[in-house]
Amino acid sequence: MSDGFDQIRALDREGQLDAVLAMPDHLRDALWRIESARLAPMEAPAAFVCGMGGSAIGGDLAAAALGDRLSKPLFTVRGYELPSWAFAGSAVLCSSYSGNTEETLACFSAAEALGAQRLVATTGGKLAEAARAEAVPVIGLPAALQPRAAVGYMFCVAAELAALAGADPGLKTEIDGAAAHLEDRREAIAARALELADRLEGTCPVIYGSDLTAPVAFRWKGQFNENAKLPAFNSVLPEANHNELVGWEGSSEIGRFSCVLLEDSDQHPRERRRMEITAELVEPSAAGVLRLEAEGPTRTGRMLELVMLGDLISLHIATRRGIDPSPVPVIDTLKARLADS
Ligand code: F6R
Repeated sequence: MSDGFDQIRALDREGQLDAVLAMPDHLRDALWRIESARLAPMEAPAAFVCGMGGSAIGGDLAAAALGDRLSKPLFTVRGYELPSWAFAGSAVLCSSYSGNTEETLACFSAAEALGAQRLVATTGGKLAEAARAEAVPVIGLPAALQPRAAVGYMFCVAAELAALAGADPGLKTEIDGAAAHLEDRREAIAARALELADRLEGTCPVIYGSDLTAPVAFRWKGQFNENAKLPAFNSVLPEANHNELVGWEGSSEIGRFSCVLLEDSDQHPRERRRMEITAELVEPSAAGVLRLEAEGPTRTGRMLELVMLGDLISLHIATRRGIDPSPVPVIDTLKARLADS
């Protein structure tokens, strides 16, 4: 059976597919780059990952992978400012693939004003220049990827920030194991992606996660948006059981919505039960209901497997729409217009 990759390659001029499949190499290379940066510990009351889009998701994923191993707050900041309650001395990672994202640049300055200990992850741009000028350590990222395809790197640097801040014992061994896990599972993930793309094609996915899978649901939504150029939505259980669930009743009157439930063996047993019941209740009005769970011994491995699966599905859907998944001209236009105003 074809894995469908040939069809993706025909339209994928910037090599997004190869970047997604290279996640194990990205993880290992990220660990090496972190090691080479020879970063000093940043003992801190809290850690913040400042970034947008593909450069922010790593913060959410790191917090989820660490779960209850985190002994201090690890927050992702998407915007121009750190929270008003952020403590002086916090460890702040400013993460921007391009190094030119205005919100992240603003946070870099805000962190200075707060008296935070700063760290930067970027390929260059104004952020690298500012970091160099202010002697802030930089973890250099490889160029020529779409920012969202650098998710493995962004995850590793966010996890490293938490470790440097003394918020967790470090994930390096688990990340190394996850890289091997993804390689072992590659064919199974590819086959699954093709099958799920068949089921999701032509529908608007609403993706649910909880605990470990909550940021993965958000990642899926973003990849549907940016790669397939389609609307998609994500939500979190149990909260969605208290409101959004009701909205499914009328969903078939306005469109074809699929319900995707991302489950995990480590989720709270009541959350697992909620996933089952939600699937049953939504089924009559949904265009399809998909319950998914990754295998694997570690939270990091299972989480990244679901990330890779969602990335591949979004590439299949882009291909079926006849579009190149990489360019996101509307984001470029928006950034250009903001720069002019
Ligand atoms: C594009 C993408 C976007 C960017 C975002 C921030 O592939 O994923 O979500 O990540 O516009 O830009 P950077 O990552 O350069 O700071």
